[in-house]
Amino acid sequence: MKTEVLCFANNKGGSGKSTTCSSVAYAMAEKGNKVLLIDGDMQLNLTLSYFTEDKALEIAAGENNLYYAVKNQKPLDDFICKTDYPNIDIIPSSTLMSSVEFELFTKWQREFILKKMLKNIVESGVYNYILIDAPPTLGCWVMNILIASDKIILPVEASPWGLFGLANMMEFISQVKELSPSLDLLGVAITKVDARKNYFKQTMETLNAEEGIKVFENVIHLDSSVEWAQDNSKPVGSYKKSSRSALEYSALTDEILNELRR
Ligand SMILES: Nc1ncnc2c1ncn2[C@@H]1O[C@H](COP(=O)(O)OP(=O)(O)OP(=O)(O)O)[C@@H](O)[C@H]1O
Ligand SMILES: [Mg+2]
Repeated sequence: MKTEVLCFANNKGGSGKSTTCSSVAYAMAEKGNKVLLIDGDMQLNLTLSYFTEDKALEIAAGENNLYYAVKNQKPLDDFICKTDYPNIDIIPSSTLMSSVEFELFTKWQREFILKKMLKNIVESGVYNYILIDAPPTLGCWVMNILIASDKIILPVEASPWGLFGLANMMEFISQVKELSPSLDLLGVAITKVDARKNYFKQTMETLNAEEGIKVFENVIHLDSSVEWAQDNSKPVGSYKKSSRSALEYSALTDEILNELRR
């Protein structure tokens, strides 16, 4: 089976990219898939969903992280770390990723660097899915993440400002498609739905009115287990299997896997 590369991207900060990436990875693995995570953000949030803060900071300060690999244009094969879960591996980030744009600036074919670094791993077919967590920016680095991906999942927070900037994101995707024509938006995942408010319906209606955008039916509600899981350096499915968000992320993952098979 071909390894599928998915990224979680939205220039809107706090939309649930890292939480969705870590939770979907866990659910994919539970469903029998082998998954590689790549933390593309200097905030280390994806790394911190699988490693303690001490361990994440130690890796970030050393050479076994994505920043070091990009800076030195090394194949990513040597940067894979094991997690506590046998079917989930991770390439951790570094706080130094803050200067990744600067590093890319002088490099030849700078939009394609991550794709080239991932080539061996993708071709080896070891993983069913590679999931990349993108930072909330729209520069050359996120372009690298999109170009390295087959499909984009766009988490949107169900809040009044959740859709703000979506037009910029869609425009960015269409520009990247000129360099990588096979890239597609797989779907929008609605996150952080507050059951006490009606706002989610409005977000759903606005998105459904947009032509050509698939909105996943399984939405994710606000759930304190997400924060407790993060506090315990675990994906929510592992922290509390029966929590609302773990069940919702499992259902969303089924929908994502079905959409990928279509
Ligand atoms: N379902 C949820 N219930 C409660 N809190 C949540 C939920 N999903 C995300 N959060 C919280 O919302 C905040 C933002 O989530 P997250 O870090 O996943 O977003 P992000 O898009 O990756 O942010 P950034 O743009 O900074 O990378 C985090 O503090 C997270 O704990
Ligand atoms: Mg994030």
